[in-house]
Amino acid sequence: MTIDLAGKTVLVTGAGSGIGAGCARSLAKAGASVWVNDLDAEKAAVVAKEIDGRCLPGDVAEPGDWLLPAIQHGVLHALVHNAGYDLATPVGTTDRTSFDRLLRVQVSGPFEMTQRLLQPLKNANGAAVVHIASVHARATNPDTSAYAAAKGALVAMVRSMAQDLGPDKIRTLTVSPGFTDTHLFEDYIHSSPDPEATRAFAKGLHPLGRIGTPKDIGDLVTFLVSPYAEFINATDVVVDGGLSARLF
Ligand SMILES: NC(=O)c1ccc[n+]([C@@H]2O[C@H](COP(=O)([O-])OP(=O)(O)OC[C@H]3O[C@@H](n4cnc5c(N)ncnc54)[C@H](O)[C@@H]3O)[C@@H](O)[C@H]2O)c1
Repeated sequence: MTIDLAGKTVLVTGAGSGIGAGCARSLAKAGASVWVNDLDAEKAAVVAKEIDGRCLPGDVAEPGDWLLPAIQHGVLHALVHNAGYDLATPVGTTDRTSFDRLLRVQVSGPFEMTQRLLQPLKNANGAAVVHIASVHARATNPDTSAYAAAKGALVAMVRSMAQDLGPDKIRTLTVSPGFTDTHLFEDYIHSSPDPEATRAFAKGLHPLGRIGTPKDIGDLVTFLVSPYAEFINATDVVVDGGLSARLF
C-alpha cells in the first residue's frame, strides 16, 4: 500500500517542532503540499524549507489575517490541528487566564480555524480535519485538569462535527498519542526531581519498551487523511504503543 497525496494541500498547526513537524514531514513525503504553521515563525520557516512547504506563521488562538493565504488558496484537503502545550498545575493554583488560554489554543481556536477554512475544505470534495488529542482525554494524572479538559473536549467535539460536516465529505477525527519524544515530553521529564528516573519510568510503562516518536504520529495522520481511511470518521485513534492498556 503506497500513500500518494500528490496534488493535495494540507495545513498543520504547531508544525515547527515535535509531533507537528513529524506530521508535516510524513505528509510531504507522501507528496502533499504542506502549509507549515507555528507561533514561532523561525521554527515554521525551517520546517517549511526542509520539506519544500509553505510557511504560515500565526497564533491558532487568534485565527485572523495570518490565515488569509490558506483561505484564498481555495482548496484544503486536510487540516491537522496539532499546536498545543501542557499546563502542569494543581487545582488550587491553576489561574483562570492560564486555563482559558489553554482551552483557546487547543479547542475553541482550532474550532474557529475550521470554521474559517470550511469552504476550502468543502471544495476539496473529500477532506479530513484531524485534532491531536491525547491519552489524557480518557485517563490522566494529578495537576492536569486544564490539559485533560482540553483533550477530552476534542474527542467529544469531533463526534458532533463529523455529523455536521459529513454531508460535505469532510471527516473529523482525533488522534491520541501517549508519551512522545518532543520538547513537551522533555519539559515534563526535566520538571521532575529525577529526570533520568522519570524517563526510565515512562519508557517502562510501554509494552513495546519505548515511547512514541513524532514519525509514529505523523505516519498515522498521513494514513488517516489518505483515501485508504475514507470510511474512518468521528472517532479517536489511539497511538500509544499499548501504554493505556496498562492498569498498574
Ligand atoms: N509529546 C507528547 O508526549 C504528547 C502526547 C500526547 C499529545 N501531545 C500533543 O501533541 C501536540 C504537539 O505537542 P508536541 O509534543 O509536539 O510539543 P512541542 O512543544 O514539541 O510542539 C508544539 C508546537 O506548537 C507550537 N505552538 C504552541 N502554541 C501555539 C499557538 N498558539 N499557535 C501556533 N503554534 C503553537 C509551538 O511553538 C511548538 O512548535 C500538542 O497538542 C500536545 O498536547 C503530545
